[in-house]
Amino acid sequence: MKSQFSDVDISILKQRAYNLRWAALPADIIPLTAADPDYRSPEAVADALTKYVQDRYWSYGPAEGIPQFRESLANFYANNRNLIADPNQIIATDSAAYGIYMTCKAFLRKGDEAIIFDPVDFLFQYSVNEVGGKAIRYSIPAGSDDITFAGLEDLITDKTRLICLCNPLNPTGKVFTPAELTILGNIACKYDLIILSDEIWSDIIFTPFKFTSIAAISEAIRARTVIVTGFSKSYGLAGLRVGAVTSFDPDVYSRLIQASLHNSTVHGANTAGQIAAATAMDHCADWLKKSIEHLQNMRDLCVHELNSIPGVTCIAPEGCYVAFANIKGTGLSSTEVADVIRTKGKVAVVPGREEWFGPAAEGYIRLSFATSEEILTEAMSRIKKTMCTI
Ligand SMILES: Cc1ncc(COP(=O)(O)O)c(C=O)c1O
Repeated sequence: MKSQFSDVDISILKQRAYNLRWAALPADIIPLTAADPDYRSPEAVADALTKYVQDRYWSYGPAEGIPQFRESLANFYANNRNLIADPNQIIATDSAAYGIYMTCKAFLRKGDEAIIFDPVDFLFQYSVNEVGGKAIRYSIPAGSDDITFAGLEDLITDKTRLICLCNPLNPTGKVFTPAELTILGNIACKYDLIILSDEIWSDIIFTPFKFTSIAAISEAIRARTVIVTGFSKSYGLAGLRVGAVTSFDPDVYSRLIQASLHNSTVHGANTAGQIAAATAMDHCADWLKKSIEHLQNMRDLCVHELNSIPGVTCIAPEGCYVAFANIKGTGLSSTEVADVIRTKGKVAVVPGREEWFGPAAEGYIRLSFATSEEILTEAMSRIKKTMCTI
């Protein structure tokens, strides 16, 4: 029997999957680019949405999000993250991307500084810049273990307001340990900084690694933490644009809701997206478990193939469904490797350019493996063939 994760309808994706993927690229290219699954989202989500749609009411929702969504997320934190969150301190957002931006807007004034990792997803640098802040990079190279955050305190000035944690870390796939989070959290306490903890990838953790939220480390750390999350990665709901920001302190919450512009209706999360996300959290744990098993197999396949290519090495990610491959041994730049894979091999990957992940990403390419075994096998065979002949 065909597994649900082999069920990829490319003809639909070619019409709907944008953001560097099927619909945005020529027909003969396999896009292992933006991290967005090729397989279908859970059936329970479709059923809940169908029911919601059939009522034919699309009234305004509450500025902070519908109660069902806020409660589902609070239950999720209690049941899966050892974290008591007050539903009244959760704000539904139109995406994790907006959650990052609005947290930066809430806590950074013009000229203020935020620590961000290097490499890390471009959204951090982008959001800090957009609100007039300055991003200061702290290097966490691929393969780093037992980080002591040495040198981090040297980067903190009287303008520093925010530490941006991405856990698990896109693109390297690192999952931070409780010991590492304790050190980072204590530094934030010492210098009175807010911690923006982006946990959008926190469901996608491979055996034997375990996810810990920095907010679960201690009361003092929790009070200064803002958790940003979303549903694009775990459940493939990117097009519904839904995410959330969770705070644990009333003053932090009021700055967030003010920065959000939700009360004016200029911004806000659409109600259908919140229904979808709440259904996913409440009813799709089995689906998610099976998807992680599939992704772990795809990770092994992808990493194994990458390591068999001369000049390429790849450490298996602990979390996130992306492989961050070191291509320095080819003697080519990230852009050159991505270009040759695309033009000759007909596979699109993300080059480790500064604009995507920061300066430390040069010498790497990033590949998403959230697809079927059939598509990934074909893509890896094309990449291997191309790389072995350059
Ligand atoms: C670390 C991280 N944060 C946020 C996002 C954006 O998620 P959303 O689709 O909810 O905006 C991504 C997407 O790749 C991501 O990797």
